[in-house]
Amino acid sequence: MSEKKNNQVSRRTFLNYTLTGVGGFMGAAMVAPMVGMAVDPLLQADGEGDFVYVMDEDEITEEPQRKTFTIDQEDGWYESQAERVAWIFRDGNGDILALSPICTHLGCIVDWGVQDDHPDQFYCPCHDGRYDKDGVNIPGTPPTEPLHVYEQRVDDGRLYLGRANPR
Ligand code: FES
Repeated sequence: MSEKKNNQVSRRTFLNYTLTGVGGFMGAAMVAPMVGMAVDPLLQADGEGDFVYVMDEDEITEEPQRKTFTIDQEDGWYESQAERVAWIFRDGNGDILALSPICTHLGCIVDWGVQDDHPDQFYCPCHDGRYDKDGVNIPGTPPTEPLHVYEQRVDDGRLYLGRANPR
């Protein structure tokens, strides 16, 4: 009699352990991918932080040149490519400057030297915004801050650009 009771308790205990183990395993199997999805983007390199070849250093002139290049970007699990534009030239000191064409007023695209009255400035057609050659906003026009500047590297005579940052 007491042996039978011991067997019943033993079966119940066994079932409890088994169900707890299986439940725990299934729970871990469900939660692990979710934790991975939440943490992985934080561990991934940011595609926009990479440097991309844009042009050879000896092609860079004092006159700003409009160059397009393609970057790989990641948004969580979604990978895509995006086109970027830079105005690239040598400034008065001979240093390379690569400017973003995105107007800092409301985000239209600036062009270089298109106004007869201001041939040495960047011009934004949306609200007549203007910037000098270094990308500094002209007082009295809508933009209140300079054009953003691309991070740059020159390696073996080749210019690489990274992300564009405010100054
Ligand atoms: S968006 Fe360029 S001046 Fe307004």
